[in-house]
Amino acid sequence: MATLFSSILTPASAFAEEGTSNWTREDVTKIEQNADNTAPEISKKDLEQIAPEYHVWDTWPLRNKDGSIATVNGYKIIMSLTAPSDVLPGKRHDIAEIRYFYSKDGKDWKLGGKIFKEGEALGSRQWAGSAMIDDGKIHFFYTATGRKGETQLTYEQRLAKASADVDVTKGEIQFSNWSDHEIILEPEGKYYQTKEQSAQGDIAYAFRDPWFFKDPKSGKEYILFEGNSNGTPAERTCQAEHIGSEEFAADHDVPEASTLFNGSIGIAEAKNSELTEYEILPPIMEANCVNQELERPHIVTKGNQYYLFTDTHKNKFAPGITGPDGLYGFSSNSLTEGYEPLNGDGLVVANTKAEPYQTYSWMVMPNGTVISFANFYDLNGLSINEIGQQSEQFQFDHFGGTLAPSLKISIHKDETRIVKELEAGVFK
Ligand code: FRU
Repeated sequence: MATLFSSILTPASAFAEEGTSNWTREDVTKIEQNADNTAPEISKKDLEQIAPEYHVWDTWPLRNKDGSIATVNGYKIIMSLTAPSDVLPGKRHDIAEIRYFYSKDGKDWKLGGKIFKEGEALGSRQWAGSAMIDDGKIHFFYTATGRKGETQLTYEQRLAKASADVDVTKGEIQFSNWSDHEIILEPEGKYYQTKEQSAQGDIAYAFRDPWFFKDPKSGKEYILFEGNSNGTPAERTCQAEHIGSEEFAADHDVPEASTLFNGSIGIAEAKNSELTEYEILPPIMEANCVNQELERPHIVTKGNQYYLFTDTHKNKFAPGITGPDGLYGFSSNSLTEGYEPLNGDGLVVANTKAEPYQTYSWMVMPNGTVISFANFYDLNGLSINEIGQQSEQFQFDHFGGTLAPSLKISIHKDETRIVKELEAGVFK
């Protein structure tokens, strides 16, 4: 008989929401790397940096409202988190800024510069987001991390938005006619944990990565984001629904520290056409007692199905269960409930076991192209821990370099498969 710690026998959490799907400990124990979900190893010497003077990591394309990749006067535009390449990799999160690149062929990217005008972006640095063009106006969504001008680095995260017109002159892309930058969403402490709740003992905190989505079925518009389930660590318990079937639970230990893992995928419905007002809704998915970070959530639709993807790290799984750094996916015929792991175990893309941290931050395009960034820099003799100490929050983080070779995956019903590797940085 397994030793389930007593709190899982308490009544269901007062906060649990009907509809929210659970990524369970049982699901995670099924994870297996195989030829269909393991990306080919990349040879670092063949990688070309799209901006040698910068670390380039999380990247997203300018999209149309329907999710397709936008073209502006023949150009595609991508946005990336960037930091000068001479800072140690762990430090880059503390000074991240969003730069844009553009290209006619969707693969040879030219650096345009910083997106936002000097001093206008909110936060002491900017983390990942999304961008959408509608009727010539670009809506930029991003994570405002910390507060502008703070002397001591903080990890508060709020979702922000600004909009602008786009101009193409003599082959150069520029943005003009900027709106004010506005905070559009903050955690309310009911469905999504606040920084203050998290500060009472949690290991990491998230309210970030806003991603615009228009539901083709209802026509309603949403922002998806990475969050944490509400409550302080002391208030949260591991429930049967977090563990899996009764049969599995009967034979599975849940270490007590698992309550510190409360990753969630949040959603908010837009309430005005400027996309500045939202109703925050219960999470689409929670990984309570399972995983701490469900990063950069995004949805691709196909037929009647919603395919929900998210990235996570090996070191973000709760004690007693494990999975590789990877792109994980779930599908449902409803936007807000009933998600089941793709391929039975949820794993869609991982690196080879020999180079498990080679690429990260995968994002699936509507045509099945998957982008990510490649860790480019050598360790210069330092251990990961030594490098990680550059940033208190991201102790075991890896390196940001440049766009990795893209992948093409097939998506058929509840199954995905890596079909082939494409050139680096291909978004097509
Ligand atoms: C993923 C990520 C995002 C975040 C950014 C911070 O690589 O952790 O969730 O916005 O990196 O640099």
